[in-house]
Amino acid sequence: MPAGILSLGRYIPDTIVTNKDLENRMDTSDEWIRTRTGIEERRYASDEIDTSDMAYSAAKEAMERAGVKPEEIGLILVATVTPDKPFPTVSCMIQDRLGAKNAAAMDISAACSGFMYGVITAKQFVESGAYKYVLVVGVEKLTKITNFEDRNTAVLFGDGAGAAVVGNVSEGKGILSFELGADGSGGNELYQDGPYLYMNGREVFKFAVRQMGESAEAVIAEAGLTKEEIDFLVPHQANIRIMESSRQRLNLPVEKMSKTIQRYGNTSAASIPISLYEDIEEGRVKDGDTIVLVGFGGGLTWGAICMVW
Ligand code: ACO
Repeated sequence: MPAGILSLGRYIPDTIVTNKDLENRMDTSDEWIRTRTGIEERRYASDEIDTSDMAYSAAKEAMERAGVKPEEIGLILVATVTPDKPFPTVSCMIQDRLGAKNAAAMDISAACSGFMYGVITAKQFVESGAYKYVLVVGVEKLTKITNFEDRNTAVLFGDGAGAAVVGNVSEGKGILSFELGADGSGGNELYQDGPYLYMNGREVFKFAVRQMGESAEAVIAEAGLTKEEIDFLVPHQANIRIMESSRQRLNLPVEKMSKTIQRYGNTSAASIPISLYEDIEEGRVKDGDTIVLVGFGGGLTWGAICMVW
C-alpha cells in the first residue's frame, strides 16, 4: 500500500513582528521588504518557548487529527537546524512528552528542505512495513540564530512548527513520486558559523529559482503526469519572487499556489507543513487533488514530492 500524509498540525507563535517594527530596529523599510521578499510580518517565539515546545504542540495536533495514539508511532523524525541543544535531539524530547514509548527518534538536518527529507524518509519505513506510523515535524526557532545587526538576513525569518503523520493510504492516493538532492559545493552560500546564520542572498536566489522549477517538473514526470494535471503547488516560503517563478513554470494560476510568506516570513523546515495545513483547512486543497510540494535550503539541499491528497 502507498504511503501518504494522513494529517497535519502546526504551531504559530503569538508575537507578530511587522516590517514597521523592524524599521525601528535596523536600517530597512516596509517597502523594501514587501517588494523584494513578499513578507509583511513574521512570528517570534518568546524566550520561554523553545524549539521542542513548538514541535510538541504541532505533533500533538497532527496525531489527534489522525486519531493515532502515541504508542502507535514507530518513528519520530524532527527536521530542524535550531534544536534546543545539540543533544538530546528534539525528537527524543518530544518522544517523551508525547508518551510515544515505542518510537525510535532522530533529528534531520537539511535546513529548509528538512521537512521534505523527513516525509520522504518516512515513506520508505511505512511502505517497507517497518513502521505503521511515522511522525514528521519541521520546526525552527530561527530567531535564535538571527543576527539583528544584519539587515540582509534579519528581515527574512520567523519561528514556527508544522507536523505530519505519515502512514498507509488507499491505492491512488498518497505520495506518487519524489526527488531529493544535495550539492555540498554550495555550502558556503548559506551556513551557520558561531551564533549566527550567514547567506549570500543572490546566489541562493539563483539556485532556488532553477532548482525549484527543475525538481517540480521532475516529480511530475516521474509520477507519469503532465503539468496540466497538477491542481496545487506548495513551495517553500522563502521569497515570493522565487515562489512565483515556480508557479509560472507549472502554468498555474495565482490561487493555485500556497502563500503564507506574507504572514510568517521564512520559517525554514516549518514553512511547507504550515502552508499545506492552511491550504487544506481553508479549502484550497481538496480531497483527491494532485499537489506538488517543493523545497530548497542550506547544504545546499532540495526535495520535492508529487502526491494525491
Ligand atoms: N532593507 C533595506 N535594504 C536592504 C535590506 C533590507 N532588509 N537587505 C539588503 N538591502 C540592500 C542591499 O544592501 C543592497 O544594497 P546595495 O545595492 O546598495 O548594495 C540592495 O538592498 C539590494 O540587495 P540584493 O541582495 O541585490 O537584493 P535582492 O533583490 O537579491 O534580495 C534577498 C535579497 C531578499 C535576500 C534575495 O536575494 C533572496 O530572497 N534570496 C534567497 C534567500 C533564500 O531564499 N533563502 C532561503 C534559504 S534559508 C535557509 O535555508 C535557513
